[in-house]
Amino acid sequence: MKIQHNISLKPYNSFGVEAFADVFIEANSVAQLKEILGNEELNSLPRLIVGGGSNMLFCADFKGLVIKTDFQGIHVTEKGDDIFVKVGAGVVWNDLVGFCVGKGFGGIENLTLIPGSAGAAPIQNIGAYGVEVKDVFHELTAFEFETGEIKIFNKLDCKFGYRQSFFKEEGKGKFLITDITLKLTKNPSLNTSYGAINNELEARGITNPTIADISKVVGDIRQSKLPDPTTIGNAGSFFKNPVLDNGIVNPVKAKFPDLVTYPMGPDHTKIAAGWLIENCGWKGKIVGNTGTWKNQALVLVNNGGATGQEVFDLSEKIIQSVKDKFGIPLEREVNIIR
Ligand code: EPU
Repeated sequence: MKIQHNISLKPYNSFGVEAFADVFIEANSVAQLKEILGNEELNSLPRLIVGGGSNMLFCADFKGLVIKTDFQGIHVTEKGDDIFVKVGAGVVWNDLVGFCVGKGFGGIENLTLIPGSAGAAPIQNIGAYGVEVKDVFHELTAFEFETGEIKIFNKLDCKFGYRQSFFKEEGKGKFLITDITLKLTKNPSLNTSYGAINNELEARGITNPTIADISKVVGDIRQSKLPDPTTIGNAGSFFKNPVLDNGIVNPVKAKFPDLVTYPMGPDHTKIAAGWLIENCGWKGKIVGNTGTWKNQALVLVNNGGATGQEVFDLSEKIIQSVKDKFGIPLEREVNIIR
């Protein structure tokens, strides 16, 4: 096991901000994780697990041990029309999507081009264009640091919610996900409920789309709206879309009839945070080395040389102005590391 010291985390976070880890290990086997547990010095350090680094913002150096998950491999088991795909946590999510689409395994084509690793997908229950990973999730395997044991989590155990799971709450920092298994199908029912997908299919004259068509369309929509993290540092949506009680939302809607909302059951409403941020005048604004993306105000960007703290400070200003204008609290989706 290679133990490295004072390592730059810039290549390991999609914001591309500079931060250093005291100790850094790339782990691709349970034996290595057990070795870390057995090493008193390593085991006494604060620990941070990094997958694709696409949902974290480093606001300071990490005074502890960073473990980068590098578990590889994709294994397919067919049971009738069902396809169980077991994938190493370190596999790049979009590579997995490409593999599945190429084989005709339906279920994750709407999640094309989401940055990050497969192992991180269930942690925040990644979602886009009408699909969340929970919809196709079967189970995952995780290493428990306290006991050194391997545990299996099924869908219920993961307590999935909107950009939420057990691993962001009670299980936070306690487990390292080594692989996940998705249940896909050879006979997919395509999800084109998201308006933009249907419009694009129509514009391309596609009346009977395949999963490859959906994947292509989703990829193109994403590329037109969202900045490519390999050229402009970002972590996708920086905030969650707030889900609030109708008692709070209705008066705001009455005052701002254009407010974009989605009903969530009888009592709650989801609000498009991008709309709120844009309507506070932030869309495309450049603030020092940071700013919001010109086509999607929910995405904060590193325009080059930004520090994590600068991005964080901008997010504070945005939260404050949305609160002042609409009385609505915004919650960060991105993990702040300091
Ligand atoms: N909007 C604005 N101004 C903006 C951005 C959005 O008015 O600057 C409005 C749009 O016009 C639209 C509504 O807000 O009416 C929703 O916008 P969009 O379809 O772009 O989706 P979103 O709600 O902003 C969510 C996810 C994205 C995901 C898209 C598509 C969250 C926090 N974000 O964004 O996920 O790709 O839907 O499904 O739920 C991510 O999590 O990192 C992410 C990119």
